[in-house]
Amino acid sequence: MPFNLKGRSFLTLKDYTPQEIDYLLKLSEELKKAKYTGTEAKLLQGKNIALIFEKPSTRTRCAFIVACNDQGAHAEYLGKGDIQLGKKESVEDTAKVLGRMFDGIQFRGFKHQTVELLAQHSGVPVWNGLTDLYHPTQVLADFLTIKEYKGHLRGISLAYVGDGRNNVANSLMIGSAKVGIDFRIVSPKELFPSDELVSYCRGVAEETGASITIIDDIKSGVKGCHALYTDVWVSMGEEAYFEERIKQLKDYQVNMEMIKMTGKDDCIFLHCLPSFHDTNTTVGQEIYEKYGLKEMEVTDEVFRSKHSVVFDEAENRVHTIKAVMVATL
Ligand code: CP
Ligand code: NVA
Repeated sequence: MPFNLKGRSFLTLKDYTPQEIDYLLKLSEELKKAKYTGTEAKLLQGKNIALIFEKPSTRTRCAFIVACNDQGAHAEYLGKGDIQLGKKESVEDTAKVLGRMFDGIQFRGFKHQTVELLAQHSGVPVWNGLTDLYHPTQVLADFLTIKEYKGHLRGISLAYVGDGRNNVANSLMIGSAKVGIDFRIVSPKELFPSDELVSYCRGVAEETGASITIIDDIKSGVKGCHALYTDVWVSMGEEAYFEERIKQLKDYQVNMEMIKMTGKDDCIFLHCLPSFHDTNTTVGQEIYEKYGLKEMEVTDEVFRSKHSVVFDEAENRVHTIKAVMVATL
C-alpha cells in the first residue's frame, strides 16, 4: 500500500511507523530494479538538493549525489567551511535561506539539534545523513540488505556487537523494534545504550513483536543470530577516546570464532563502513604502531569471507536514499 510521505523530513526512524518503513523498503526495491533494468523514471527532475556536511563521508555523500543524478535532480555539496551554518549565521536563519532556494536538504554533522532546527525552519524536507545520535538512512540500507539475503525482517535475530551507544547502534535498535526483529546489543556495560532509548524501543517492541536485549555476554548475545553487525569503535568526533575504547572493546571484535558462536553457517556480517579490518589506512597504520592492533572491530578474515555482505549494504545506500527523496519530495 502506498503512503503519502510528501513534505516529511527524515530525522530519526522514531518518526516513521512500521508500515511507512516497509513502504520505503519496497520503494527502494522498485527503484533498484528500475535502475538495473534501465527503466528508471526521472521523478525528481528540476529539484535542487542541498547537501550539508560538517563531517566527512564517502557513502552518504555519493549515494545522495548518484540518487539525485539518476532522478534528474541537482545536488549542491556544502562542505565544512563552505557556509556559515551556526558560525556567522544561526542555523535558524540558514535554514530559512536554504528553504527559499532548495527543495530538500541533507545534513550530516555533530549535534542532532542542528538537523532538527533545519527541519523546523526550512519549510522543506530535511534528511539526516548522520548526527551524533542517529544514522537512520543507514538502517534502511541495512534492512534492505537483510531482506535480500534472508527474505524477510520479522523474526530475524540480529546482534549489533561493539559500541552499543553510538548513532548506528541507536538507529538500528529503533528500526529493529519497529520492524519486528529479535535485536541484541552486545557490548560492555559502560557502552550500553541509554535507558531512555531502550525503554522507548521496548515499548515499540511490545506492539510489533520485536524483542530488545542489551547484554555484555558475547556467547549468549550472538547465539542463534542470522546476522551480526558491527561499527567502528570510535565514531567521528570521539577520536580522543581511542585508547579507552580499545581496552573496552578488544574482546568484542567480530572474528570467525564469534561467527561460529551464532551456530548459523549462513550468518551474514554487516558493517556500515568505513572499517578498520587491516592496516591499509593511515589511521589503521597509526593504531597498529601505537597499540599493536592490525584489525579492530572486525577481522580481515570475516570482512572478506562469504559471510560478509558489506558492499551490497554500501550499494543499497543509493537505492534507499533515493527512495527517501522520491517519497518525501
Ligand atoms: N556508512 C556511512 O555512512 O558511510 P560514510 O561515512 O562514508 O557516509
Ligand atoms: N558510528 C560511525 C558511523 C560512520 C558511518 C561514526 O559516527 O563515525
